[in-house]
Amino acid sequence: MEFNSKDIEHLSRPPLFDFHGVSMIHCFTDNWENIQKFQARPDDILIATYPKAGTTWVSYILDLLHFGQTSPDRQTSLPIYERVPFLESDFHILPPGTELAEKLTTTPRLIKTHLPVQFVPKSFWEQNCRVVYVARNAKDNAVSYFHFDRMNIAQPEPGDWNNFLQRFMDGKMVFGPWNDHVTGWWEKKQTNSNIHYMFYEDMIEDTRRELDKLCSFLGLSPSEEEKERVRGGTQFDNMENNNMVNYSTIPVMDFKISPFMRKGKVGDWKNHFTVAQSEQFDEDYKKKMMNTTVQFRTVV
Ligand code: A3P
Repeated sequence: MEFNSKDIEHLSRPPLFDFHGVSMIHCFTDNWENIQKFQARPDDILIATYPKAGTTWVSYILDLLHFGQTSPDRQTSLPIYERVPFLESDFHILPPGTELAEKLTTTPRLIKTHLPVQFVPKSFWEQNCRVVYVARNAKDNAVSYFHFDRMNIAQPEPGDWNNFLQRFMDGKMVFGPWNDHVTGWWEKKQTNSNIHYMFYEDMIEDTRRELDKLCSFLGLSPSEEEKERVRGGTQFDNMENNNMVNYSTIPVMDFKISPFMRKGKVGDWKNHFTVAQSEQFDEDYKKKMMNTTVQFRTVV
């Protein structure tokens, strides 16, 4: 798909504003009426995450599991953001996510969202769609989000790390506070067996094990060989060098500042947080997460 250079020229750092209690930027709310009216189909699979939790990794895994064998051309000619439309996106450089999703002719449709659970269009629940949610530990998620905002002019100005971290703790991030997102989806999962809740750290620890759980949730039974192909193809190094999934074709991102596939590690927060920042973060974290049963593994 061609990008419209006029739209790119006029892109500048957008301001955050309060949208029904959640910080947002206009490109995710401009198309709100159509987002809320979006008609999900029963076999749609929604990939839901807080930004920078591993969305692209899981999107590519799901795409390969469903279409890797049957549509090899799709893997070499279509960027991941066209294969897996971003529901709420209306960046103007691509058609809105709702339109891209409506135009998909392949089944199941894989659809990505960063929406907090309360904003998800009701048709996804009415149609009993399956949802794959990926959560990532807060500190690494914050670091990844910081570098993403540095390199992406369609995101708010990140400021320096200290300011960004304070804003992250204040929950003034696009798509709202990390803790509300991960706990909101966790609570929903308690009463909805169509939600498969995964952790980025588990995927790093044992991708094959998590792949097996995912296949079992989706009712898929690929051969061992096929599973190995999916695991291998979606390893960080392979995705980093794959232009169809590494976002190098998106003009709003400046890879000279930071690549989209940045490090792909657990524990990179230690290279960013000072001891004082880490202690303050932990204290704040304990307060915010005291009433939830969702457990993130200790980041060592
Ligand atoms: P880092 O910035 O920590 O490197 P999202 O797709 O939700 O935007 O998440 C992006 C984050 O997931 C980035 O984290 C990116 O490097 C990481 N990531 C993407 N593919 C990965 C893979 N195959 N293995 C490990 N991490 C991956």
